[in-house]
Amino acid sequence: MIGIGTATIGRPHYINIKTKVSDEPFNKENFILKGKSMLTEAYNQGIRHFDTAPGYGIAESILLEWISEFQPKDITISTKWGYTYVANFDRNAKVHEIKEHSLGKLNEQWEVSKQLLPYLNIYQIHSATLDSGVLDNKEVLERLSQLKQEHNLKIGLSTSGDNQNEIIEKALSIKVDNNALFDSFQVTFNVFDQSLLKMTSLLKQENKAIIVKEALANGRVFPNINYNHYQNTYELLESLSNKYDTSIDAVALRFCLDAINPFMVLSGASEKEHLASNLLAKNFQLTSEEIQQIKTLAIKPSSYWKERKQLPWV
Ligand SMILES: NC(=O)c1ccc[n+]([C@@H]2O[C@H](COP(=O)([O-])OP(=O)(O)OC[C@H]3O[C@@H](n4cnc5c(N)ncnc54)[C@H](OP(=O)(O)O)[C@@H]3O)[C@@H](O)[C@H]2O)c1
Repeated sequence: MIGIGTATIGRPHYINIKTKVSDEPFNKENFILKGKSMLTEAYNQGIRHFDTAPGYGIAESILLEWISEFQPKDITISTKWGYTYVANFDRNAKVHEIKEHSLGKLNEQWEVSKQLLPYLNIYQIHSATLDSGVLDNKEVLERLSQLKQEHNLKIGLSTSGDNQNEIIEKALSIKVDNNALFDSFQVTFNVFDQSLLKMTSLLKQENKAIIVKEALANGRVFPNINYNHYQNTYELLESLSNKYDTSIDAVALRFCLDAINPFMVLSGASEKEHLASNLLAKNFQLTSEEIQQIKTLAIKPSSYWKERKQLPWV
């Protein structure tokens, strides 16, 4: 299944490798209209799951406004808590988001996010890390367990960084009242960072939902002269896109679907043409030989994350 992420729908700037930067002054009204029209387009193209977060600017409020106008009956939503957006739509802001994994922040953001009920079915810790201490914070874990029971939610987390597997392992061991707390894992997996492959059988064995983010590596799957070291990747993706008469992004997304068969892969497109191109992934399947070929393109997670940290907010 392919869902859509709202990171670029709710804030005008996000980490990626875009070279075309608009110099038009930001207009909030137009931004909201464009966001809602993108959500309608996604729905009309068959998308039924929407991933959001308070850290994605005004994404949650755009989603709520769209729901009340469009009245979709059959959608589900995942949101997160733990980041606050502070850039005020300014690309040059020194700080774009602030991370805080405290009980106070969880309660504050839940008060807003609960408006997404009854569509909300997955509630996630946004970028859980070992050093934020969130996975050892008893009060937070108990509150999440309480929300899980009260609202029939799946509790999840998202991870970022080269120690993703360590975080998943730790989260899998967490129990509240003798019950495993985490049901869903939003993780990075793409042609470059394939470290998740080591965890997929364990996650499946334990019946956990895997949601793939960064399937296009923030745009790094597309040929780019600034990333000449990915020439082999570009060539293979291009030859497969020719074979299947499809787009490069569709091949990269298809790899995520075929290599690990996750519960969902998120598209991060904010342009309708890009979404349509992403969704071409639904029209074909890679052979096991092709999956193996793409597996040889994996790079070290530490290199992937080092490069990602250097990407600008554009
Ligand atoms: N820590 C976390 O929890 C976390 C972190 C990252 C992402 N996420 C979630 O995952 C979702 C997916 O985002 P992502 O960053 O992972 O996205 P991604 O799919 O790896 O990359 C999205 C980027 O690729 C570009 N793109 C897509 N199709 C394209 C095409 N055909 N041609 C040219 N450019 C194309 C998009 O451009 P346009 O914007 O111009 O369409 C956007 O800049 C997010 O919205 C969010 O919900 C969560």
